[in-house]
Amino acid sequence: MKQCKHLAIIMDGNGRWAKAQGKKRTAGHLVGADNVRTIAIAANEMGIEYLTIYAFSTENWKRSQDEVEYLMKLPSYFFKKYMQEFIDRGFRIRMIGDLDELPKNTKKVLLEAEELSKDNTGLSLNIAMNYGSQREIVQAVNHYASDVLEGKATLGIDEDGFASYLYTKDFPPVDLMIRTSGEQRISNYLLWQIAYAELIFVQESWPEFTEDVLKRCLEEYTKRDRRFGGVKDE
Ligand code: FPP
Repeated sequence: MKQCKHLAIIMDGNGRWAKAQGKKRTAGHLVGADNVRTIAIAANEMGIEYLTIYAFSTENWKRSQDEVEYLMKLPSYFFKKYMQEFIDRGFRIRMIGDLDELPKNTKKVLLEAEELSKDNTGLSLNIAMNYGSQREIVQAVNHYASDVLEGKATLGIDEDGFASYLYTKDFPPVDLMIRTSGEQRISNYLLWQIAYAELIFVQESWPEFTEDVLKRCLEEYTKRDRRFGGVKDE
């Protein structure tokens, strides 16, 4: 069976799910955070090695102050509740994104989770926090240019050389990207890394995205014919 090594998820629909139940949008984010644990465990059991989730984008600052503050406090709730379990399960937590713009305490909690799990070799749970793919690429270009100016790199890097300047330098390319809640957009997520990924859009919102829905997506993935630009054997 074709294995999906790296799964990326755009966890959309928390707000709409909560509103539909007469709750505040933030209630959806809370259930959504708990669901990250459920799906990380399920993904690990299904053989996925890298799970990259979109927790906060560089565009999400446009939301109300209340909602932004809530989203900034969620990592602290999340890791207090689940970090020990993640360690016990051998998960390695890693961050991608521009962490310098986050509130001091949020950044501290995220870096602590990375540090505590850095020797683990199980599932790599990668959290995209203040992440934007265009910013990632621009930062990579600037970093490469300054390396050239300082004589640390030479002109003419290839694709692999460029990828080594991205936040995701230690991860394999994304095999499958799933977006929940019916929208069919990429929203500035992992643009370089999904060059040959399969894309699946599901109707379920993120709080409704269960282990069974994940299984369904992986079954669909195994049926896809991935040719990476080549030609199928005749
Ligand atoms: C998009 O749904 C979701 C977000 C912007 C936040 C996602 C964050 C989590 C699920 C929590 C993860 C946290 C940690 C610490 C792992 P939306 O609210 O924009 O949905 P809508 O389209 O219905 O408004």
